[in-house]
Amino acid sequence: MEAPTTVDGPIPDATELQDFLERARRTLTANDVGEFVKPGLHQYPHQWNWDAALVAMGLGHFDPERARKEVRSLLRGQWLDGMLPHVVYHNGSSDYFPGPEFWQIEQSVAAPPGIHTSGLVQPPLLATCVRRMHRRASDREASLAFVREVYPRLLRLHRWLHHARDPEGTGLVAIVHPWESGTDNAARFVQPLMQVTPSASQMPAYQRRDSDHVAADERPVHADYERFVYLIDRFRRWGYDAETMYARSPFLVQDTLFNAVAYQALEDMIALADELGEPTAELERWRVRLHRAYNSKLWDDEEGLYFAYDARHHQLVRENGVATFMALYAGLADRAQAEVLVGAHLENPDEYAPDARSRFRVPSQAKNNYFYEPRRYWRGPVWILVNWMVLEGLERYGYHDLAEAVRGDSLELMRSGGFFEYYDPRDGSPAGASDFSWSAALALEMLEPLPLALS
Ligand code: GLC
Repeated sequence: MEAPTTVDGPIPDATELQDFLERARRTLTANDVGEFVKPGLHQYPHQWNWDAALVAMGLGHFDPERARKEVRSLLRGQWLDGMLPHVVYHNGSSDYFPGPEFWQIEQSVAAPPGIHTSGLVQPPLLATCVRRMHRRASDREASLAFVREVYPRLLRLHRWLHHARDPEGTGLVAIVHPWESGTDNAARFVQPLMQVTPSASQMPAYQRRDSDHVAADERPVHADYERFVYLIDRFRRWGYDAETMYARSPFLVQDTLFNAVAYQALEDMIALADELGEPTAELERWRVRLHRAYNSKLWDDEEGLYFAYDARHHQLVRENGVATFMALYAGLADRAQAEVLVGAHLENPDEYAPDARSRFRVPSQAKNNYFYEPRRYWRGPVWILVNWMVLEGLERYGYHDLAEAVRGDSLELMRSGGFFEYYDPRDGSPAGASDFSWSAALALEMLEPLPLALS
């Protein structure tokens, strides 16, 4: 008799499921280099900010003490002003560019002493992951002590975001570099980046290394990469002074994904604060403001999509990409907006739903978007993190069947292709870095639901 099937492929039996979960756990332990867990086997040899948050959440399923260590390691790189850098170089340089020496963070008065880091931030997923680790922890006392220990550091990060990156009090937090978005090559950054125009004499010397381990046609193109480097050169010349960076960075974007992550994190911070008996008024203020600004500024009623806002050139960037659904993840959309996002877009085969052009949910760029490329980094491939956020959002709004379909596709991709950085939506073939930690961490998160009883 044939194994029972769903539209998304064979349902694994219990043994196969256990084996798959074991492979996910082993991927995380194999990438553990002591101080931190590498994001992937070869491509990324340092500790990345939101990777570490996700890794900690994954480790929380089977080794809570190790999970807490991951968070502490990341926080060791926190700057004196609260900024949490996007890379921490615990073990010095490697074959990865940019290495610690490129950043010259010693130019900043806020750089943490005795540790090498980058000078940029990344989407603030950490509070959300810490809260989920806490909800899952069986040793309630140890977990609460840990939350008490890290809470002030998390609060300082969010305070920094809502001040240094929103000095005008718009309600939205700005990013000054595509790398800060965590999704740097996405089409919504093309237009703002095109306005960054370095002359040859302004370009610092550098040697790109990101195509050493991954095919060049899956990585960002040269002209974009030049701009990435040029922007960092500006910032280091300005000593990473937050005021100058906000006022003068040629790239200044109020991003859909970044702000959705920041909003969800505030909800999680408020829950943690309540449990600790800490005040919540400041967090509430940022939350209300962000909610209002997100909908008044980033929602385009005509298209029925959320778009990033280029705050340097005062315009919406009308590119249809998966970041538009992050408003569901964070609960920022109202019922009518959610219906449009799901009905007219997520379920539309010209954009994100499966059809002859794509078998797997959810392509990171709409298929009918000009920049769609099914194998190029953030321009079309399926990412497990994005799928997890989309399915969390769908569940939040009651689209359980569709959430199940996204979960089914994600698991099928990982079961047949392994834990990769991303996958081609046409045939599910894996691409980018192999043995990718956050994919493994999220496999655990998708299959082992949070206990309902706890806060
Ligand atoms: C890439 C991704 C970024 C991630 C990093 C490490 O740069 O765009 O989101 O944090 O790799 O995995």
